[in-house]
Amino acid sequence: MSDKRISDDMEQALNRQMNQEAQQAQAYLALGVWAESNNYGGIADFFYKHSEEERQHMFKFLEYINTRGGEAKIGAIAAPADNPSNLKECIEDVWQHELENSRKIYDLVDKAMAEKDWPTFNFLQWFVKEQIEEEALIDGLRDKFALASEDRVNNANFYSLDRDMQDASQEAELPREQKL
Ligand code: FEO
Repeated sequence: MSDKRISDDMEQALNRQMNQEAQQAQAYLALGVWAESNNYGGIADFFYKHSEEERQHMFKFLEYINTRGGEAKIGAIAAPADNPSNLKECIEDVWQHELENSRKIYDLVDKAMAEKDWPTFNFLQWFVKEQIEEEALIDGLRDKFALASEDRVNNANFYSLDRDMQDASQEAELPREQKL
């Protein structure tokens, strides 16, 4: 690779976010397993797909760092958090994770602007847009969960919620649907 065209500091910051995306992929994978083992098949599919999306995000950072002459450094992934105690807690945890991730992306945008690193600023705009979509997706699920919970007698609502999550539009396919 030719000369490095990002600062050492930016290279470290991008590497941190790359590993953060890998951590997110791991967290969603664990939630998929939790949902599947609690018989929420649709919700499990949703989280498995989302785990794949986070892995794609990780790879975007990896490619960008290397393309700019830096070096992507693959770090350790911590164990995911403990399983949620119920679906409400699960969805709220995911919501907080996504808000936190948005803040991290905005910090990187601030940094790119402060360094006048316009290529990185431009690269990060894809993530700014992606976080708008991710927040809308998870916030929509919170709304659906609230609706489903209002009628505690009618378990069909939970069935519908599970189906909604299964059908929620995401870019990634389930790993088991991908052609190997
Ligand atoms: Fe890669 Fe859900 O943010």
